[in-house]
Amino acid sequence: MSKSIIVFFSHAGDNYAVGNIEVGNTKIVADYISEIAGADQFEIVTHKYDGMAYTPLINLAKEEANNGELPPCEGDAPDLSQYDTVFIGGPVWWGTYPQVMFTIFKDINLDGKTVIPFTTHEGSGLASCVSDVKSAFPKAKVTQGFSIYGHEVRSGRAKVEKWLKGLGY
Ligand SMILES: Cc1cc2nc3c(=O)[nH]c(=O)nc-3n(C[C@H](O)[C@H](O)[C@H](O)COP(=O)(O)O)c2cc1C
Repeated sequence: MSKSIIVFFSHAGDNYAVGNIEVGNTKIVADYISEIAGADQFEIVTHKYDGMAYTPLINLAKEEANNGELPPCEGDAPDLSQYDTVFIGGPVWWGTYPQVMFTIFKDINLDGKTVIPFTTHEGSGLASCVSDVKSAFPKAKVTQGFSIYGHEVRSGRAKVEKWLKGLGY
């Protein structure tokens, strides 16, 4: 049986469509994947956005994306050597994953691994996340991704389960 891990970022706090949430939308999906597929988790953490209201956050995120910034994150990059399948998940921020995910991407090696991207979003679906993951990890086997609306995740376990079933979990 292959060993899998979810590398993800999720922003709790003030957000579009769901108000001020204690647990981020992507974290909820990551928890479903762990329950259903038995995957471990590595959460990408930054304190850069702590306590920010939605409007200043989207402005800051836009600036970061436009400038290709790589905001610092807490701790070291995970050791993924024992995993052959790596789920990569995050919210869509301005058409791709939050820049802090790219901070980690440059420090992990996914050569030869199966990589399964997923997003939570409010209309953009996968946006450019799959192609950006392919560019970051040209030697990985990047599969078709999965996306779900952020405001749907709390009642959306069955959708995640159906997707994972289709992947053989
Ligand atoms: C800074 C910021 C930028 C966003 N940009 C987009 C976007 O381009 N497209 C989209 O569909 N949703 C966008 N959203 C909505 C989030 O993708 C959505 O709420 C997501 O479920 C949040 O996940 P999280 O709670 O795990 O952080 C944005 C939200 C924020 C805070």
